[in-house]
Amino acid sequence: MICLMRRLQNLHPGRKFGLKLRSSSTSATGTLPETKCNYEDFIDNRQQQAKCSILVQVSSERSYPELYNYCSRFGSIVNAHHYCLRHDDELNYILLEYAREEEASAAIDAGGVSDEMSGTPVRSPFLWFRASTGKKKDNLSSSTMPHPGLLSIDGCRPIGQENLLSLLKKAENIDRQIVELHQNSQLNDLGVRMRFLAALQIQQAISGMFPSAQAVPFGSSVNGFGKMGCDLDLILRFDKERGAKNNQRTEPSRLIYHLKENLSNGRSQTQRQMEVIGDLLHLFLPGVCHVRRILQARVPIIKYHHEHLNLEVDLSMSNLSGFYMSELLYMFGELDTRVRPLTFTIRRWAQSCGLTNPSPGRWISNFSLSCLVIFFLQQLRQPILPSIGSLVKAADADDFRVTEDGINCTFVRDLERLNFQSRNTSKLSELLLQFFEFYSQFDFHNRAISLNEARSLAKPDHSAIYIVNPLEQLLNVSKNVSLEECERLRIEVRNAAWLLESEVENTSVKEGTETIWGLLNLFKHPEKTIIRPNMFFKPRMVEVSDLFENGMSTTATPPAGVTYKNPSIRQQVQNIKASTRNELKQMRGSSSSVTSASAAAASSSSSAPTSSKNRRSR
Ligand code: GTP
Ligand code: MG
Repeated sequence: MICLMRRLQNLHPGRKFGLKLRSSSTSATGTLPETKCNYEDFIDNRQQQAKCSILVQVSSERSYPELYNYCSRFGSIVNAHHYCLRHDDELNYILLEYAREEEASAAIDAGGVSDEMSGTPVRSPFLWFRASTGKKKDNLSSSTMPHPGLLSIDGCRPIGQENLLSLLKKAENIDRQIVELHQNSQLNDLGVRMRFLAALQIQQAISGMFPSAQAVPFGSSVNGFGKMGCDLDLILRFDKERGAKNNQRTEPSRLIYHLKENLSNGRSQTQRQMEVIGDLLHLFLPGVCHVRRILQARVPIIKYHHEHLNLEVDLSMSNLSGFYMSELLYMFGELDTRVRPLTFTIRRWAQSCGLTNPSPGRWISNFSLSCLVIFFLQQLRQPILPSIGSLVKAADADDFRVTEDGINCTFVRDLERLNFQSRNTSKLSELLLQFFEFYSQFDFHNRAISLNEARSLAKPDHSAIYIVNPLEQLLNVSKNVSLEECERLRIEVRNAAWLLESEVENTSVKEGTETIWGLLNLFKHPEKTIIRPNMFFKPRMVEVSDLFENGMSTTATPPAGVTYKNPSIRQQVQNIKASTRNELKQMRGSSSSVTSASAAAASSSSSAPTSSKNRRSR
C-alpha cells in the first residue's frame, strides 16, 4: 500500500484532481496532444488549489487519521499529501486540500497561538498540530471517521542517484532511458502544490493593503522543465489587470482610490518597495529565513529560504517578461511530447559535465540551454516546434500583453489556433544525437540564434554565445557566457555526439546487465555543482582520456571499429585524440611538478565558497 502511495508522488504536475490539464504522454515519438492546456488556466487552477489548502506540521505521518478527523470539522478534505524534511531531526508535514476555499480559511481562522512559541501572531496557511490534551483525545480517536489514504508519503524526496542509475541501466533502449529520466526526476504534483502555497503566503501577507496583488510562480516550477527540488521564481504583481481577459469589465467605477504618488525614478521606487517587502518577509512570515536583498541587479530580487517547504525562492517585482517567457516555454513543452524529456536529458547531461551550475556566473544557464534545445527543434528540416514569429502572427486581440516597461509579449495563447502539426517522427535518441551533432558544428563565432525566426543570424556583437532574447530582441540571453565556457560547451557536445553515436549504432540488448550504457555514458562524470576558476581544463582532460582504445581508461571505451557518420566529427575526434596524446606525453614528462602544483590548487579550491545551498547549515 505504502509503495503504491509512494509511486503516486511522481505524478505530473497537472495530472489530477479536476485540473483542466492533459496528462503527459510517455511516448518516445511525439504527437500533438489531443487537448492542450492553456498556461493561464493552469496557473489559475493551481492558485485556486493553494487557496483551498493548509500545511500542518505533525509528529509523523501516523498523525494523519487524527489530523483528518480534527480538520474535517472545517469542511470536506479532498486529498492529503505527506512529506518529510530531514535536518538535525525529521520534520513531518501534511498538506490538506479542502473542497472549497472558505473551508481552508475556516481552518486557518480557527488557528491559535501557543504559549510555547514567541513571536508576533501572523495568520498564514502554515500550522502546527499540537498534541491533544487529556480527555478530549478520545473524541479524536482515529477510529471515529473513515478517511481516505494519504496520496503520498515522504512525497517530496527526489529519487536517489543510485535508484535512478539502476532504472536507467534496466531500460530497454536509449529512448526508454530518456523517458525514465524525465518521469522520475520531473517536479511532481506535491512539489507544484508546495510552490503555489509559498506564493499564496506572500500574497495573503500583503492582501490587506494590496487586495489585487498576485504572487505568481514562473520559471522551471511551472514551465514544465522543472525537476524535483528546483528553485521557485516568483513575481509579485501589483497590476490589477491580469491579461486582456480582465479588460472586459462592464462599466468603469466612478469611485477611484486615492494613491500615493510614485517616485520619479521607477527603478528606485521598485528597489525601495522591495526593501520593505524584504523586511516584512524577514520579520513576520513563518518559515521564511535567510532573506537576502539583491536590489542592484538588472532585475532586483529578494532571495529567501522557506524552511517548512525546503525551498529556495527568488522574488521579483519587475520581471514580467520572465513570466511570459515561462509561458512560451510551457507552450513549447505542450506542443510536442518529445520536448520536455529531451530538454530534461540535455539539462542533466550539462549538469553532469559541469557546464551548468546552480549559481549564476559566466557559464550557460539552464534557461539558455532550453533555448538551444528549442532552436534545434525549430530548425530541423521537418521542424518539431514552430518559430516564435509564427506564434506572434497567429495572435489575436485576446493575446495582447505588454509589460509595464513596454515589452510586447503578444503571441497566440490558444495552441489549437496555431494549427501547427509536426511531421517529424524521429525518436528521442535520434533527436538527442542530432542535437549534439548540430551544436558540434554550429558557428557560435559568427552566428546568433533566433528563436523568433527559427534560423541563425549574423552575430551583432562579440559575445561568446548569442541567443536573441525572444521577448526583447535587442538583448542577448546568454551574454554572461565567457569564451572559455563556450569552448567547453563545444568540446562537450562533440564528446557527447561521439559517445552517443557509438551507442545508437550499437543497439544490442543491454537489459539486466550491469554495464554502463546509453545515457549513463553521457552522465558518467560525478556531478560538478561547483565550478572553480582553476577547474577549466579538468573535466575535459578526464573525459578525453576515455578516447583511447587500448586500456588507458577502464570506463566507457568506445568499441573498436566504430564508424562516424559525420565526416567532420570523425575528423574532430581524430584531432582531439592526437592533441591529447601530445598533452599527456608532455604532462608525463613534467609529472612531478604538475602533481604538486595541482595538489596545491585542489587544496586551495576545496576551501572556496560553496553555493548558497551548500552553505546553509540547517
Ligand atoms: P532553473 O531555475 O535553473 O531550474 O531554470 P529556470 O527556467 O527557472 O531559469 P531561471 O530561474 O534562471 O529563470 C526563470 C525564468 O525567467 C526562465 O524560465 C525564463 O522564463 C525567464 N528568464 C530567464 N532569463 C531570461 C532572459 O534573459 N530573458 C527573458 N525574457 N526571460 C528570462
Ligand atoms: Mg528558476
